[in-house]
Order: sequence, then structure tokens, then C-alpha cells
Amino acid sequence: MQYRQIFPAIQKTLQELLHKYPTIGSIVADIVKDGGSALLVGGAVRDLLLAKPVKDSDIEVHGVPLERLDVIMQKYGSVSLVGKSFGVLRLHGLDVDWALPRVDAAGRKPTVVLDPYMSIAVACKRRDLTINAMAIDLTTFVLYDPYNGQRDLHDGILRPTDMQLFLEDPLRFFRVMQFIGRFAMVPSAELNQLCRTMDISGVSVERIEQEFSKMLLKSVYPAAGIRWIEHIGRLNDVLPELAATRAIPQNPAWHPEGDVFEHTMQAVDAAAIIAQSYESEYNKLLLLYAALCHDLGKVTTTHVIDGTIKSELHPQAGAVIARQMLKRITHTHDLIHTVYLLVQYHMEPGQFVRGGAKVPAYKLLARKLAPYTTLSMLADLALADVRGRNPKGSEPLMLESEDVRAFRTCAQRARVLECVEQSVLQGRDLLDLVPPGPRLGQLVRRAYEIQIEEGITNVDELKRRVLAE
Ligand code: CTP
Repeated sequence: MQYRQIFPAIQKTLQELLHKYPTIGSIVADIVKDGGSALLVGGAVRDLLLAKPVKDSDIEVHGVPLERLDVIMQKYGSVSLVGKSFGVLRLHGLDVDWALPRVDAAGRKPTVVLDPYMSIAVACKRRDLTINAMAIDLTTFVLYDPYNGQRDLHDGILRPTDMQLFLEDPLRFFRVMQFIGRFAMVPSAELNQLCRTMDISGVSVERIEQEFSKMLLKSVYPAAGIRWIEHIGRLNDVLPELAATRAIPQNPAWHPEGDVFEHTMQAVDAAAIIAQSYESEYNKLLLLYAALCHDLGKVTTTHVIDGTIKSELHPQAGAVIARQMLKRITHTHDLIHTVYLLVQYHMEPGQFVRGGAKVPAYKLLARKLAPYTTLSMLADLALADVRGRNPKGSEPLMLESEDVRAFRTCAQRARVLECVEQSVLQGRDLLDLVPPGPRLGQLVRRAYEIQIEEGITNVDELKRRVLAE
């Protein structure tokens, strides 16, 4: 087996980690006293070797039975068992999983066999990819690398640790997708072969969402993961609405980059770059999902009219398709509805500027997006759309857009770039004259239109006007 002392820099990081969480060091020392050993395993080892921050640690304890590990850990606080069959223990207040080596067997009744005396190589074999199948002994700082994960990490290759065992968990298909984006790595030929045919029908929406979120939030070029699914011929199984964009041509005068799929992928990567300045992860996801969905409507609306490729009303059609597609990835209603709105109005920034829209139009558009999103995010989506048009490569263009800039300036002047103008006349102002019900709602909406279009902000005047109509 490949094992060697780890680099001094990594050793230092690990020592700092143990220093920061002295309880970990104490438990490890007790395990060693009992004749066992404690190994850092999985993604934490990968992230350490990549010099990335380690967020959650998995420690595998060898040579000590579960009951004994439980006794050792109880010296330091209250211990909970995270699923007895999985043999994972947690100490209250410490974000570390302490697990025993195990062998998983999939099937109709999945079984887990714990064996504290299993060899490290056998214990690592159940892990999905070689880059995730390494271990570092927390006492000796020796790196165990039975499947050459370090070499694959260096070469940027995702390789299954074991072809047969890889197939036992279909979530791994989506993990590969996110690792491709996140680490800009390339799957090996045998991994592609496995993923071309593996059954992924049983993966829940919640777990798919987790992997999509990681891919979208942590990648420089997140579209790489989706391009891979398309490349191995599985996009129709995962996102059929997006797969349908592959064959849809675009007018080369506007879109020299190629078909709608290529444009979408470039727009997603452009959105990721734009969203780097966002503080909120949720807003990042909104922009990225909106970029992913923005042109889905071209599938049903693209026609050649008088020799020209046109996709009239594709934003409206696309909003409905986006809603349908996003349900395959998330159950979050607000996210789906926000993307629906962004897709529906994604052409407005350009049209507003070219058509010379006035202040009321900006205010009304901001109102249509509120409270879910803002004109600012719509402008960012329009920018991603403009940047996703590189005919010479697959990375997005890094240009600015005069139209988008002008749209932002006008929205800012109208004071609705990041917010919405509040209604002056509220329902309660009319309650003495109109009972609660649909008519009250209509009157309030009409008062808002008058407020915006004519700039009237006096409650009594608005009241008079709507009641007189
Ligand atoms: N693992 C696996 N198959 C899975 C999930 C996890 O083999 N379907 C193994 C891998 O060795 C992985 C480890 O369990 O590294 C920990 O899993 P998890 O914390 O879910 O993922 P990470 O690899 O740490 O990745 P991330 O940084 O995305 O959390």
C-alpha cells in the first residue's frame, strides 16, 4: 500500500486543527492507549491535500470496538449514536463523525458490517473515488493512499475506487457532477462508462439539490458538471427540459456561440462570475438557476420566419418550463417562483433601454418582481445572457453591456434598483367604504398604478380617484 509522511504544511494545518479542538487530540490519545488508531478520512483528507479549508471531519477508528469507543468518548461529554448500524458516534458540540471501518452491501435490504480490525486498504475500498479514499493517521501523520488518490488529485482525474462498489450508491453520479465543477477535474474513461448506464432513478430531490447547490456555489465554472452529464448522454434522464435545448438553433447574428445549450452553459458560468460579489448564497443560487433556465422557452418557440431564426415570446414559455424543470432539483417554492419571475422578464432590461422606457415602467417592473427579487438581479441575469456568447471557446465573454448599464442607471434614478416603491394607499384606508374582498384588492392595485404612473402620493386623492372610476 502507498503510505508516506505527509507534507510539513499539511502536518502543520492538522496540528493546528488538533490544537484548536483539544478534545479530538485527547480522544485520539485514549484510542491509541487502547491499542487502536484514529485516521482522518474522506473529503477532509482530499481538502487538506488541495490546501482547501477543512469544514467537517470524519475520523475512522481502527482496532477498538464500538462499545469501547463509546466509553472513551463519554469521558468528554454526551455521545450519540448516528444510526447504530453505521457505527458512527458524535460527541455533543463537536462537529466530527467518529466511525468504525465497515463494509456496505447494497441490495433490497442494504447491510452494513462493522469490523474494527479491517485493514485500512479494505476500509478505504468502499469510498466512491480514489481522491476520497485516503486516510491520515492522526498520531503519526502518515498518509495511507491505497488507491493512488494523491496521484489522481495531482493529475485532476476522478477515478472510481472500485468499479463494482461505486454502483452501490446512485448519489455518486451527482457527486461526480459536482466534483467536476468544483475541482475542475476530469472523470476517467471507466468512471464515464459506469455513469453512462448506472441507475440514478432512485435519488431523492433533496439529495440532488445538495449536490447541485455545491456545484453551483463552489465551482469557478459550474457548467462543467452539466456539460459532463450531457456529454455522457444522461441529460435527458436528469433534466430533459435542458437536454431539449441541444438541438435548438439560434440566430447567429445574435448568438454566434452555437445552439441554446451552449449559450445556456456559457451564461451559467457568466452568472457564477457575476455572483461572486453576492454575499447571500441563496441569491447566488437564484442567479445561477435563472441563468440555467432563462432560455428553456426557445425549445417550444423557435421557428424560422422569412429565413430568420426567431424565438418570440420565449421568456413567457420558458418561465413555465423552468418551473417544471426546477421541481426535479428542489422543493423550495420561493426559489422556483423567483426563477420563474426572472426567466419571464429576462428580456426586459434590453427592451426597456432600446424602447426608452420611462420611470413608471421601471417602478411597475420592480413591483412585479417584489418581494422575491429585484431589478438589480434581473440586470445581472441580462448581463450573464450577453456574456454567454463566445463563439471561440466555452468560457463566457468578460464584456460589459451598455444596455445593462443604462438599465441599472435608470432603475437607480427611479429608486427601484434594489427595492420597490411602497403603495401609499393600503386596503385599510378603504375599509370604511369597501368591505374586504376582491374589489378591495382591485382598488388598491389600481391606486398603485395611478401612484406610479402619475406620481400621486396623497392618500385622499388616490382614494377619490379609485372610487370615482
Ligand atoms: N462517500 C462515498 N459515497 C457517497 C458519499 C460519501 O464514498 N455517496 C465517502 C467519501 O469517501 C467521502 C466521505 O464519504 O469523501 C464523506 O462524505 P461527504 O462528507 O458526504 O462528502 P465529501 O467527500 O466530504 O465532500 P463534500 O466536501 O462535498 O462534503
